[in-house]
Amino acid sequence: MIPIKSEEEIAKINKGGKILAEIFREIGKLIQPGIDTAEIDKGTEALILKKGVIPAFKGYRGYKHVSCISVNDEIVHGIPGRRCLQEGDIVGVDVGVIVEDYYADMAQTYPVGKVSKKAKKLIAATKQALRTAIKQARTGNHLGDIGAAVDAYAKRAGFVVVRDLFGHGVGKALHEDPLIPNYGNWGEGIELKSGMVFAIEPMLNEGSHEIKTLDDGWTIVTVDHGLSAHFEHTIVIKEGAAEVLTSV
Ligand code: MF3
Ligand code: CO
Repeated sequence: MIPIKSEEEIAKINKGGKILAEIFREIGKLIQPGIDTAEIDKGTEALILKKGVIPAFKGYRGYKHVSCISVNDEIVHGIPGRRCLQEGDIVGVDVGVIVEDYYADMAQTYPVGKVSKKAKKLIAATKQALRTAIKQARTGNHLGDIGAAVDAYAKRAGFVVVRDLFGHGVGKALHEDPLIPNYGNWGEGIELKSGMVFAIEPMLNEGSHEIKTLDDGWTIVTVDHGLSAHFEHTIVIKEGAAEVLTSV
């Protein structure tokens, strides 16, 4: 069952989403060579507390941090720790918040100082793949249109999408139905209805699409250790165009 949210519920998700977008602006300023990922998480936690909202990830399945921080070949769910960012790295930060019992979920990938042309291209392509996916997320379109848009854009840009990890519905829980693959067939899958709220989150790799989970039980990396980038927005399906709920 895919929940359809009321205007009141959407307003609550948007309240959290706006705050989350503001937090990401501040996170962007923290990203520089020399900072370790635990410091980014601590800074993010301070921002969350300052805004008076609840971190969504801390305590989720025993997770101990407010953010997932994934460097270079780490795709998602990197655990904040002692790793220092170095010039040329790319770093994905994923954060969720709860406001008035509703979740908002967002992720961005940042370059650390000056990065390679390929890394810059990968980040730009992943961001643009999310934009093209959001354009497909409209009343009357189908779930497959979202994934098909991501996959087509990624291919054109010379990258591959991660096939074993998905976006998801979001609202009363961090993860609701449906799963949202970043590939699919145009016109296939369930019909999108106004009021569905989705976290769309393409992950693009420079090499193979294959992934594995590290022994820490969380961190997901590319098997070939190629770079990976990740962007995520929480959006609501509407007539015409989706509204991005995680933007200021
Ligand atoms: N945003 C992540 C996702 O949708 C959720 C991470 S949960 C955590 O998969 F516990 F790992 F933080
Ligand atoms: Co998510």
